[in-house]
Formats: sequence, structure tokens, C-alpha cells
Amino acid sequence: MKCIRCKKEAEVELKSHNAAFCRDCFLHFFENQVEKAIKKHSMFSKADKVLVAVSGGKDSLTLWSVLLDLGYNADGLFINLGINNFSEIARSKVEKFAQIRKVKLITVDLVDEGISIPDVKNKTRRPVCSLCGQIKRYYFNMMGLTEGYSVLATGHNLDDEVSRLFSNVLHWKMEYLKDQSPVLPSENGLLKKVKPLYRVTEFDTSAYAFFKDLDFVDIACPFSKGATFTVYKKHLNQIEFSFPGTKIDFYQGFLKKLRPIMTNDENSRKNTCKICGYPTFSDICGVCRLKGYR
Ligand code: AMP
Ligand code: FES
Ligand code: ZN
Repeated sequence: MKCIRCKKEAEVELKSHNAAFCRDCFLHFFENQVEKAIKKHSMFSKADKVLVAVSGGKDSLTLWSVLLDLGYNADGLFINLGINNFSEIARSKVEKFAQIRKVKLITVDLVDEGISIPDVKNKTRRPVCSLCGQIKRYYFNMMGLTEGYSVLATGHNLDDEVSRLFSNVLHWKMEYLKDQSPVLPSENGLLKKVKPLYRVTEFDTSAYAFFKDLDFVDIACPFSKGATFTVYKKHLNQIEFSFPGTKIDFYQGFLKKLRPIMTNDENSRKNTCKICGYPTFSDICGVCRLKGYR
């Protein structure tokens, strides 16, 4: 099989793009997909200060690496979840990357904040992954705003977005569908959020991270059973195997055809937390409540 760009021997085949690439041309293709996503959705420009949420996993470290290589002004934000070994390994990978690339890394330590994930897991009966997501989003926003960033970028890829869309459609979660997008504009005291990897798959990101020799955490969070999304991803990949291109069609079809006609209801967060000022539905936000404020 030959690379469709330079005719050298291909190393990666991408059926959904009806293409095969040698290593260099694949890297070029990948970076091009990220740049396309950024431009198409006006995510940010070279003048913006971008804060990349980095977990230490392959997606977010790939994202940070690509943005730096493309010449964007991108710093990192790591939330230390306080999950023993897992968080320590993640922290060391992210710190190592920041040191090698000589870039700024901001760290928030949930143990210092009094809400480490093992702690909140024991204190409440809500599913730990949803609490963890809520706490992470809170600090993404808070740190981005207080440190003067114009936008926050996460490492969600096409598989993440498609499995979430599939789940939201299966259960007709209209309030989540309304918020599913590669870009969420800044509003109601919330920072703009973007997903520049939404056009590339988990496979593409793994290949990119491998070719670039990125050192990332490859163990799963001990709390993430992740069963539902893993099952959806598996089935969606089987469909993709039989009908290449289905995943991107499904997601882009949603963005083009359904999302624009979904109306914003009155359900948005109108209050601000009286403890920390974060937008909330009631008078104290969820994170301040976890910290013990009533
Ligand atoms: P997840 O929800 O774990 O699939 O992660 C989705 C995205 O959230 C990642 O690609 C990162 O951009 C970000 N993220 C997850 N965990 C952390 C963390 N501990 N610190 C900073 N960013 C994170
Ligand atoms: Fe949040 Fe595991 S990463 S619970
Ligand atoms: Zn609060």
C-alpha cells in the first residue's frame, strides 16, 4: 500500500478517509485535521491565550503537543485528583512534558482543596465519575478565568463525541444534546470551551502519539468502570468497520442538521454561587457544597 500523498510505503490506513499515509504524511494529515477544526469553528487564533486541560493521557498530551507545534500560545492545566498511584503517574507525565517543551503548567491539587476524588466518593452517593467531571469542569473554568485565558481546550476525540452523541440520542437527553458541540461559547460567566481533536479518532490519536514518541499514562482510572461508553465505542467501531465514514457522518450530521434547530430553554444557570461566584442554578454551587458549605 502506498502513501496517497508522497507514494512512499504507507504505514497507516484510514478507511474512513479512503486514504493511506506514510509516517510524515500522516503527521501532516493529523495536524491538518486539528487546524481545520480550529478554523472551521473559530476556536481560537494565534493571538489567544489557550489553556489546555491535560490529564496525562494520550489525547490531551497529543492535543497540547500539536497546538504547540502549530504555533499556538498554549499552557497546560492539570487537576491532581488525589487518586493515589494513578494521579501521581499522571502528574509526573504532565510535568515531564511541560519541562521538555519548556511550557507553563498550572496544577490544582484536589487534596489541598479538600475535595480529593476518593474523599468525595466516600462522602456522597452520587456516581464518582459524574462528581469528578463536575469538579474538573469547575476548576477548568475557574482557573481559565482567573489566570486570564480566552479559551479552554480539552482532548475529546471523535470517538468520545460520537459515543456521547449516541448515548444522548438513545436516551433522548435533550438538555445534553443542546450542549454537545466542538465549541461552547463563553456565556453566563463560563469560559469558552473547545475540542480541537473532534475530527480525529482514538486510533488516529494513538498513532500520532506513538509516532511522536509521547510519554503518557496508559492505565485507566481505578474508579472508571466506563462500561457504558466502552460498550458504545465497541459497537460504533463495528459499524464503522462495515461502513467506513459512519462516525464522522453521524457527528457532522448532528452538528449541521439537528443542533442548529435546538432552542435554548430558560434552564440556564442564572445565579452565581454566593461562596465562590461560579454560575449555578441555586445559591451555592455543587463544588462549594461538596466542600461542606450549605
Ligand atoms: P475524560 O473525561 O477523562 O475522558 O477526559 C476528557 C478530557 O478532559 C481530557 O482529554 C482532558 O482534556 C481533560 N481532563 C481529564 N482529566 C483531567 C485532569 N485530571 N486534569 C486536567 N484535564 C483533565
Ligand atoms: Fe474521574 Fe476516574 S478520572 S473518577
Ligand atoms: Zn461555589
